[in-house]
Amino acid sequence: MTAPMRVDPAIVNVALGARSYDIVIGRGTLASLGPRIAALRPGAKAIVVTDDNVARYHLEPAEAALHGAGMATSRVIVPAGEASKSYRVFEQVCEAIIASRIERADLVIALGGGVIGDLAGFAAAVVRRGVDYVQVPTTLLAEVDSSVGGKTAIDSAHGKNLIGAFHQPILVLADTALLDTLPEREFRAGYAELVKYGLLGDSAFFAWLESNWRDVFAGGPAREHAIAMACRAKAAIVARDERESGERALLNLGHTFGHALEAACGFSDRLLHGEAIGAGMALAFEFSARRQGLLPMADAKRVIRHLAEVGLPTRMHDIPGPLPGVGQLMDLIAQDKKVRRGTLTFILVRGIGAAFIETGVDPREVRTFLGEKLAER
Ligand code: NAD
Ligand code: GLY
Repeated sequence: MTAPMRVDPAIVNVALGARSYDIVIGRGTLASLGPRIAALRPGAKAIVVTDDNVARYHLEPAEAALHGAGMATSRVIVPAGEASKSYRVFEQVCEAIIASRIERADLVIALGGGVIGDLAGFAAAVVRRGVDYVQVPTTLLAEVDSSVGGKTAIDSAHGKNLIGAFHQPILVLADTALLDTLPEREFRAGYAELVKYGLLGDSAFFAWLESNWRDVFAGGPAREHAIAMACRAKAAIVARDERESGERALLNLGHTFGHALEAACGFSDRLLHGEAIGAGMALAFEFSARRQGLLPMADAKRVIRHLAEVGLPTRMHDIPGPLPGVGQLMDLIAQDKKVRRGTLTFILVRGIGAAFIETGVDPREVRTFLGEKLAER
């Protein structure tokens, strides 16, 4: 598989009947934001929700694109980081939307990474019982995952994403050039969610990434190709299982271990969300090979080698600072909505590109495995 040269943006449709929408992927597509929205919602005004990092680089060009199409806009800028997925900042965003007199025929525009997409999307879901919104993702993680599929949420003191709603955007505009200003560590963290699509369902895509990941990091056609591949995969899964009653759970590959590690690090800069998912996928592959004998250890090692090669954490000792003991990690796993009648649900693998949902994992097996991994530290 080689990346095709592309000039026109790639357009991926998320087929959800009356709530279907396009994901537009390409370098420089931000300039088309105004005309595309004006075509979908003529006469609408918009409020742009963003964070202070993204505002510095991309707010004015985004507003210029909207004004160029004759749209009136207002803005709300929140502090960057996961802490903004809080009740307090959520209230601030809702009040700003109402104060800007955004009506149900108007729009909320989420300009940012997964934090802004989740926060602004949730505000759009509930203000006036639902306002339409557009996702303009600015991180790799958001372009390949969080901007697509309509999951919106803020965090509770009890855990991540516990207060939220399904609310599909009317358009996702992924300008791959916006990623040029993203710190490399953030790009690498997003790469974990990108490679996830190869690992869960497309071994040829994983092999392509093994050969081409440097070009994806460098930008250009390989980056666009990879993002479009990921969006096609996610769009297909979401179209078949919008509300995660089955297959959509495969997108949580690496998340059970990953969320526990992320929580253990206090959702801090010690371990970014995507880094936690990288480590979680390495653990899910090794757990599948070691405890379940589901795939050859050589396949698990191949996956771990690739994640390590791009610079993602794959072992407990790649995570800086102290980690809790196995008992506390097991408590964090149990909190992750994945326990039913004493057994755990995990996304396991029968091979690269062959993930499946296992509902009957014995917690003792997980505890033994994690105990061994922590002892290697
Ligand atoms: P993020 O939104 O915090 O962005 C990461 C950092 O990059 C922030 O400091 C941000 O200000 C900065 N940034 C963003 N775009 C930039 C740019 N173009 N240039 C310079 N700096 C930029 O984090 P994220 O990794 O994008 O998203 C993580 C969040 O996404 C988590 O809260 C996670 O729960 C959520 N998520 C949601 C879904 C979903 O389906 N809704 C899926 C995966 C993850
Ligand atoms: N990121 C998981 C999902 O969208 O379902």
